Amino acid sequence: MEQYIIKGGNPLVGEVEIGGAKNAALAILAAAIMTDETVLIDNLPDVNDINVLLDAIRGIGASVHRIDRHSVRINGRSITNFNIEYECIKKIRASYYLLGAMLGKYRKAEVALPGGCNIGSRPIDQHLKGFRALGADVDIEHGKIIAEADRLTGKHIYFDVVSVGATINVMMAASMADGLTIMENVAKEPHVVDVANFLNSMGANIRGAGTDVIKIRGVKKLHRTEYSVIPDQIEAGTFMFAAAATKGDVTVMNVIPKHLEATIAKLVEIGCEVEEFDDAVRVVSKGRLKSTHVKTLPYPGFPTDLQPQIGVTLALGSGTSIITESIFENRFKYLDELARMGSRASVEGHSATIEGVSRLTGARISAPDLRAGAALCIAGLAADGITIVDDIVYIQRGYERFEEKLKSLGAVMERISSEKEIRKFRLKVS
Ligand code: UD1
Repeated sequence: MEQYIIKGGNPLVGEVEIGGAKNAALAILAAAIMTDETVLIDNLPDVNDINVLLDAIRGIGASVHRIDRHSVRINGRSITNFNIEYECIKKIRASYYLLGAMLGKYRKAEVALPGGCNIGSRPIDQHLKGFRALGADVDIEHGKIIAEADRLTGKHIYFDVVSVGATINVMMAASMADGLTIMENVAKEPHVVDVANFLNSMGANIRGAGTDVIKIRGVKKLHRTEYSVIPDQIEAGTFMFAAAATKGDVTVMNVIPKHLEATIAKLVEIGCEVEEFDDAVRVVSKGRLKSTHVKTLPYPGFPTDLQPQIGVTLALGSGTSIITESIFENRFKYLDELARMGSRASVEGHSATIEGVSRLTGARISAPDLRAGAALCIAGLAADGITIVDDIVYIQRGYERFEEKLKSLGAVMERISSEKEIRKFRLKVS
């Protein structure tokens, strides 16, 4: 099992290139099978979740040609299998996007119930509500979701909760339904807009993505396209908090600053200097940061996927911070690990109270999930002494070349897999 070993205490300094948005790319890859023509997708992140989904798409019979690490050509004409049982697909959340894509194109789909990070109960009732509203029969049997329809017909659908996954999934199926679908109370995340733009580039007729109401006029066929995925606001935010926590000076390159507004606002509030450029943002952190209150919310609110990263940063701030997690109920597990490093925090219900400390000390800790794992690496980079992070497989699911990018900013860290390598690292840095 691989681990990260980190010698903390160095401010991160320099420029780092941000890759394509994992969560947009996953949905776009699934949607790419909705045409029989060839689709070229660029600016993909080269991370495990993407590779698992590409294997699944290959597994149902589509042709998948990886041109290089960041681009792929997909052709869905040869798909003959509508049943996705591939074992690994259960581990990724976005497997459910193949339901919307196949239901839209073929009127049938069978996909194993999705897994993903254990950050809460993560129901999919709103996805199923949307598919049923369009006229599909949907059942869950033997651990699979089975959706089938003679015809899909546009409908007026009101979502009871704002869900990124349900918005994108139902949008895909409705793109090829008969007539007009109006989806209300939808998610407005940048990747919802990106998937809508992608589908429109294939000939879909989707209006209003990025607002509360999306209107979709179904089309009979979709066609070829070439598309570049938007930059990953969560990867960018992770490096921005890494700069803040380590008292560094980092410029995240190839980003859309507009997508980072909530993150920038919080960084400024706690005392960082933030400079925005056309496609880059610079974060400078000097001295002790201030405390604040944070509540995670759907976009444009503060993203739940950056909650652990700001939590770790606030653990080193002065005074008392309160974080309220309103999206997923099980997202404070990282605080137990952080306590091993000397942080002071308590959790009650959906809120965590963090009393800032002046220093954290290195310890052996585990990544509980993808974003929490990245946040704990930030803690290790900011702490005195050596930190070993176990279970980094979670981090590799969603961050491309994570340690290489951090090292390019001056982080002293290695990816290791044996006690011998730990001893070697300790000797090297002592
Ligand atoms: C996606 C992201 C994840 C991010 C989350 C919120 C992917 C692969 N994952 O997850 O990284 O943390 O958005 O930005 O893109 N809910 C229901 N019923 C449903 C669907 C959702 O009650 O049918 C609830 C969830 O429990 C949660 C909230 O709605 O409380 C938001 O979930 P959702 O936006 O659907 O998250 P995901 O699409 O799973």
